[in-house]
Amino acid sequence: MTNAQQAENMDINTSKEFEMDDLVALCKRRGFVFRASDIYDGINGFWDYGPLGTLLKNNLRDMWWQDMVIAPPIGPDGSPLQIVGLDSSIVQNPKTWEASGHIAGFSDPRVDCKETKRRYRSDHLIVYIPNNEKEPYCAFLEGELSKAQLKKLKKTSGSDDLSSFDVKNLEAFPEADYNKIIGPDTNTIGTLTEPRDFNLMFKTYVGATATEDDVAFLRPETAQGIFLNYKNVMSSSRVKIPFGIAQVGKAFRNEVTPRNFIYRSREFEQMEMEWFCHPDDAKKWHDFWIEERHNWWKKLGVNTENMIIRPHEQDELSHYAKEGYGTVDIEYKFPFTAPGFGELEGIAHRCDFDLTEHQKFSGTKMEYVDPQAPDDRYIPHVIEPAAGLTRGILAVLAEAYTPDPNRPSKVYMKFNPKLAPIKVAILPLINKDGLPEIANKLYLSLRTKFMTDLDVKQNIGKRYARHDEIGTPFCLTIDSDTPNDNAVTVRHRDTMQQERVSLDKIEQFLAEKLL
Ligand code: GAP
Repeated sequence: MTNAQQAENMDINTSKEFEMDDLVALCKRRGFVFRASDIYDGINGFWDYGPLGTLLKNNLRDMWWQDMVIAPPIGPDGSPLQIVGLDSSIVQNPKTWEASGHIAGFSDPRVDCKETKRRYRSDHLIVYIPNNEKEPYCAFLEGELSKAQLKKLKKTSGSDDLSSFDVKNLEAFPEADYNKIIGPDTNTIGTLTEPRDFNLMFKTYVGATATEDDVAFLRPETAQGIFLNYKNVMSSSRVKIPFGIAQVGKAFRNEVTPRNFIYRSREFEQMEMEWFCHPDDAKKWHDFWIEERHNWWKKLGVNTENMIIRPHEQDELSHYAKEGYGTVDIEYKFPFTAPGFGELEGIAHRCDFDLTEHQKFSGTKMEYVDPQAPDDRYIPHVIEPAAGLTRGILAVLAEAYTPDPNRPSKVYMKFNPKLAPIKVAILPLINKDGLPEIANKLYLSLRTKFMTDLDVKQNIGKRYARHDEIGTPFCLTIDSDTPNDNAVTVRHRDTMQQERVSLDKIEQFLAEKLL
């Protein structure tokens, strides 16, 4: 098993400071993330972002765009890098996916249950073998066993004491012995099929009279749209090697076992940048982007103790990764991987794989001719920092989630103020004596600059608690002194400290903290 798989296999209850269920409940209660098709009992692997989740996701996306496209990092030679943006189509010519290797190789191993017709990723199934080697063995999806699963274990093997079992990943289990296993959702022995590769791309059909011949795919990564447009970007803008093309957008993978909330879903968003460079410089740029991307998550407020940088092992490398350079992941200690880590972003050296393949399949020359040295012709190498936007949201939510040590039911979402969905709340203490009018005027002047909430309902304690729980960094209270001193009380979320700031200075005060 690889380190990443080991990390993913960790008991979800070990050494975490809060339960994942609490975070999921807060996301629903406060409108960050809802189950897609909730009123129809959901649809596995799909999620909707509510009013606050949408703001949070847009903020994370905008911060990435700001630091990639609007003001890209300064390069090793001290000059700013060139990166341009793109928004390519989700459906492309199906030859794209032949060339990219996704039709042949973008698959996960899966087993089916012949009885229940349910399908599982075989590397996600754990088999419990009683120490006395007594059959049958029970297979469950990795993670903490539920009460019902423990009961099933006891019924089939006579014990629910986990230490009396040898535990093996199904992949390490000889296929000849599958007839001894009871699958996760049945009580019948020997119903699991042998593992088969399952292509993760979603199919669709293009055109009103479409047939099987008109099959197309929803993109499984945003990257290929960038490679398809490499020539268009080169000829329409003034970029020259080295340069990057950045894109944020939806990607779709028909994951065999979507799970862990928005961590592994079937529809998700990526923030990817393809950095085109001279082959001789690829190693230097790979190292540069690993450091740069790690620092970026740190700048966002992700504690470095909760992140690791982990090079892929040989057996994990994608088909495009160059031996010796490969891919490096930035991993985060998610509540369900703790004390281990799970992938947040990958930084791959894709060599010249994609451009060479598209040259071969399309007949379009992808060679770069250096205008300063016309004899220097080459297909650029590509370094790719590929982050999950929606997975990033989960990391940001988990990082912010802070239960009050004295009152565990009270939670503070300690977002970096720049990421916080609502930046400032205006809270008139009472709904009379001219306070609503002052509050309204302040709201109208601030809302064009900062995401502002005018919150007039409930007592002030409940309003503070609500804003702590949605992560609003600043609450402005308008009280009976305000009409006389023209000032408001600013309450800071993280310290609960209060200070008096005059109304004519409040915009400047907020700008200093938030822009
Ligand atoms: N273009 C390279 C690429 O797509 P990847 O490691 O498969 O590489 C990049 O994906 C990032 O996209 C991952 O680091 C992760 O953050 C996110 N991601 C991948 N699959 C996902 C899924 N099923 N659900 C949510 N996020 C996912």
